[in-house]
This record gives sequence, structure tokens and C-alpha cells, in this order.
Amino acid sequence: MPQQSNLSTLHISELNVWYGKNQILKNLTFDVLSKQVTAFIGPSNSGKTTLVRCLNRLNDLSVDFRHTGNILFKGKNIYASKINASEITKQIGMIFQKPIPFSKSIYDNVAYGVRIDGIKDTIQLDDIVEDSLRKAQLWDEVCDNLQSSPDILSNGQQQQLCVARALAGNPEVLIFDEPCEQLDATETPKLEAIVQSLKTQYTLIFVTNKRRQAARVSDVAGFLCCGELVEFGQTEQIFTNPKDKRTEDYVTGRLG
Ligand SMILES: Nc1ncnc2c1ncn2[C@@H]1O[C@H](COP(=O)(O)OP(=O)(O)OP(=O)(O)O)[C@@H](O)[C@H]1O
Ligand SMILES: [Mg+2]
Repeated sequence: MPQQSNLSTLHISELNVWYGKNQILKNLTFDVLSKQVTAFIGPSNSGKTTLVRCLNRLNDLSVDFRHTGNILFKGKNIYASKINASEITKQIGMIFQKPIPFSKSIYDNVAYGVRIDGIKDTIQLDDIVEDSLRKAQLWDEVCDNLQSSPDILSNGQQQQLCVARALAGNPEVLIFDEPCEQLDATETPKLEAIVQSLKTQYTLIFVTNKRRQAARVSDVAGFLCCGELVEFGQTEQIFTNPKDKRTEDYVTGRLG
């Protein structure tokens, strides 16, 4: 059984992934440390989304997905037969490229998963909704419009609502997969600031193909290329003193 250090929330060892006959990820080994931001960078189709969807079992939805190797979350194999995949998906939440709020009120978007978990008490629900919206730095802007549709919100605010919805499920890890793709120049720094503020309480994984964004937001970074984790280490080292020529070419803009 692979060992996991105390500070490591996720331990990935010798991970190989295939969709059908195509091998997408090749022998990845790394740790995601607690309460840090770990970024994955790399060209399009390098396997970033495939990787993060393995970490919370969202890839189970792809019929031809197959993997070998281990993914331990707090020491437990997330693919063990006794583990409930939807519980993992809740504990390791995900924010996608495009914000997709449910067609429900702002309040009900955040309360949705909590209600499914059986919490019906209004005061408790109100507290969770407010706390989640505050952490997503959206409360002040929506507190007078909680019963409105998310359609009244900008793209950036809708993404913040998706962050609040994920936080309401009380996750330990939040994965952001290119969360700023649909955001404008003023909304992007806001989302980056939210990620920084969440770091005190959550373990964060941030996928981006914007190099400078990864340098700004992350403590640790991994460079994926053609399904290989070419280099993984402290963000500063990856960007200022990369060990592999391919990493250097990518971070300097010569590749990808
Ligand atoms: N569900 C799937 N079934 C089959 N092949 C897939 C599936 N999802 C992704 N792939 C393939 O896996 C490879 C890696 O794709 P992935 O989406 O993980 O890359 P990415 O690094 O996230 O790219 P991007 O930066 O464009 O988001 C690609 O060749 C893609 O076509
Ligand atoms: Mg992707």
C-alpha cells in the first residue's frame, strides 16, 4: 500500500489513464498538499481535464474510461469498491470553465445539495447559504436578491455562485478547471483573489493554460505535456528555474 504524508491530501501514484485504446495519462506520481494551491498547466489536449476528473471520480461518467495506479484521498483509495463515488465528488468539488447555475433561485442554487443531504431546518440552511456566498465574496451583491434567478448575475458572479454552491457541500478539496475562460478582465482578478482567500481552509487545484495566472495563484505547479507530468514542484522553481527543457520552452512561451 503506498504511503501518504500527513500534509498530503491526495497522493497519486503511477496513474495511467485510457479512453478506449488511447492512453491519455502516462505514469503520473505526485502529491497534492493540504491548504495549498496546486496548478496544472500545459498545452491543449495535454490531459489536464482528464487528470482532475480522475481525482473526484467524474471520469466514471465516461464509458470507455479505464485507469491503473492509485489515488489516495486522506489515505483511502478513492476507487476502492466500498467507496461511494458521489460522496467523493462532493468532498472534492469542481468548478468548470463555463458557469452553469441551475434554473432555480440564487438561494436554491446554494441550498440544493445541502437539502439533498437532509438539512431542512431554515435557520441552518440560511446560515450555510450566507456563509457559502460570503466565502465566494458574492453575499453583499446578492443578499437582497436571493430569490431572483441567477440570470440577473454577470458571468463572473455566476461563477462565484458556482463556487458558493460547491462550498455549501462542505468539501475538503476544490478543483478549478480553467474557471476564468468565460470571465472578463475585471472578473478574473476577483476569482483569483477568491482562490487565494479559500486557501486558508481548503486544498485547491487550479487548471489553467494561462501561464502567468498559474504563476500568480499557485504554490506548487505541474507541467503536463502529451499526458506526461514533465515537471512538478514549487511554482517559483517551475517558472524561474525549470529543470526540463520542455518546461522551460512552455513557461517562456516557446511551446504551446
Ligand atoms: N471523454 C473522452 N473520451 C475520449 N477521449 C477523450 C475524452 N475526454 C478527453 N479525451 C481526449 O483526451 C485527451 C486529453 O484531453 P483533455 O481534455 O484532458 O486535455 P486538456 O489538457 O484539458 O485540454 P484543454 O486545455 O483544451 O482543456 C484529448 O486527446 C481528448 O480528445
Ligand atoms: Mg481541459
